Amino acid sequence: MTKLLFVCLGNICRSPSAENIMNHLIKKADLGDRITCDSAGTAGYHIGSPPDSRMAMAARKRDIELLGAARKFQRIDFENFDLILAMDRDNYRNILALDNAGKYKDKVRLMCDFCRIYDLKEVPDPYYGGPEGFDRVIDLLLDACEGLLQYVINDEPKTLT
Ligand code: 4NP
Repeated sequence: MTKLLFVCLGNICRSPSAENIMNHLIKKADLGDRITCDSAGTAGYHIGSPPDSRMAMAARKRDIELLGAARKFQRIDFENFDLILAMDRDNYRNILALDNAGKYKDKVRLMCDFCRIYDLKEVPDPYYGGPEGFDRVIDLLLDACEGLLQYVINDEPKTLT
């Protein structure tokens, strides 16, 4: 089993979208017994909240429902997951700031590293912008999740722990 954790700031927009999009692709590929997904935020502002309604609306246009409740990233997540996908560089830095000994650096990656169509380094934070920002996040994450799924399928023997 490969365990994936998607991480953003608030865990109500980008990372729950990534988690649910990935689950959608996993289900389509019939790989539910091989890959599991979760998401978390580096900040605790929205703990317990469901995904942002603007984000949920953008996902619904692609027939993807956003499920889940926000939680904060914790040190134990380094142990519990095989790959930790940061949505932007701030998330990446804030995650690794909790890895004092540098033991888990190889598990933490930028989500956009898996994009095959988009040439962006970060998933932009849509929270304070207009509705088009949410649609853009969904399209970008669909691309990154497709690439990530291929990576996990091809690389599975190395990520299995
Ligand atoms: P997310 O978006 O990190 O993609 O969940 C945000 C959600 C909330 C806030 C910022 C970004 N906030 O400042 O409350």
